[in-house]
Amino acid sequence: MDIGTVRGDFPTIRKGKGIYLDSACQSLRPDQVIQAVVEYYEEYPACGGRSVHSMADRVSDGMDRTREALASFFGTDDPDCFVFNKNCTEGLNTAARGLPLKRGDVVVTTDTEHNSNHVPWLVAERERGIKRRMCRSKKDGTFDLESFKSCIGRDVKVVSVQHTNNVTGCTVPVKEVVEIAHDAGAIVVVDGAQAAPHIPVNLKDLDVDVYCFSGHKMLGPTGTGVMYGKKEVLESMSPLMVGGGTVGLVSADSYNNAPVPDRFEAGLHNYAGVLGLRAALEYLGRIGMDEVRRWDSLLMERMFKGLEDLGNVHVVGPSDPKEHSGVLSFNIDGLSSHDIGMMLDSMAGIMIRSGMHCSHPFYVSRGIDGSARASTYLYNSVDEIDVFCDTVVRISETFGD
Ligand code: ALA
Repeated sequence: MDIGTVRGDFPTIRKGKGIYLDSACQSLRPDQVIQAVVEYYEEYPACGGRSVHSMADRVSDGMDRTREALASFFGTDDPDCFVFNKNCTEGLNTAARGLPLKRGDVVVTTDTEHNSNHVPWLVAERERGIKRRMCRSKKDGTFDLESFKSCIGRDVKVVSVQHTNNVTGCTVPVKEVVEIAHDAGAIVVVDGAQAAPHIPVNLKDLDVDVYCFSGHKMLGPTGTGVMYGKKEVLESMSPLMVGGGTVGLVSADSYNNAPVPDRFEAGLHNYAGVLGLRAALEYLGRIGMDEVRRWDSLLMERMFKGLEDLGNVHVVGPSDPKEHSGVLSFNIDGLSSHDIGMMLDSMAGIMIRSGMHCSHPFYVSRGIDGSARASTYLYNSVDEIDVFCDTVVRISETFGD
């Protein structure tokens, strides 16, 4: 990967809009993605899957090609196993509400889930009578396989875990989790929001049953999400919303569901978003996900090195940078995470995220009220990381305890 060429593709970088280290929230977009969105609005701003005129045909074809691109990118055979929605959260809600669970069925999660893979199961407990079992992570936030195994029994119907954590950047050994869960007869739902943009994900190899992620964290347009599911699992699920597009024939008193994936895609789509998402997948495919991972890892090592001598700076998560996939959360004694975020921005134009990152159980269980979080992606340069480290050094020396 030539970092100069990559950076040249991103308008906000060309225009010098600052150092963007908030990609775990939402990534920047390259020209190719923006162009695909603009082209849709300028050339064929019609509806897919309904009308049969030339503009609509082009949209329908583009939607099909995005599903094909998803199947190829994630190493699967069937494009119809990919459902379009608006974000990873919607996919996880669809699973928690739509899987055929009954009162007393056990769902296993972990104590480091994002609220989007925690609250939907809380609601399922309250509204559907499922039972939750939460496996404990290690002190540094990494996944504890022994704790996980102790949660598994024949009463478990679903295991729902993050692939990569959005606070620590640590990756869960999903393949082992799936093997253990399947041996017990449970299916596995994965929150892939933080993994899909940063590491190679082969869904056939992982053998997961449901995998949700967001396009806007992987160069795609905002408000684009995808829920992958094995065909038989999707066919067993009820949709979150129903209406136009989700049904076969409807009468005054009855309806039947359309086949998968249509039954999950109620109403008109975010066509521009889906078409832009294909451009994002093509972009990442050209670079290669091994290369994206290598670059994140190089930047993370540099970040750790730049901060390692600061006694009042504390990393959230393990001390080995190799375990942090594109995410470094930290605190400085005497400062709130929001103070750190505002100082980085005002002193050097560095944009990070601060607070609890929608992962409240993680922070509450560790008795901390948040952290500053710098997150990288393929367009960040080594120079940017050095400016970030120099600025954290100045902040910690000048304002920290
Ligand atoms: N889940 C997103 C983040 O971690 C919003 O920033």
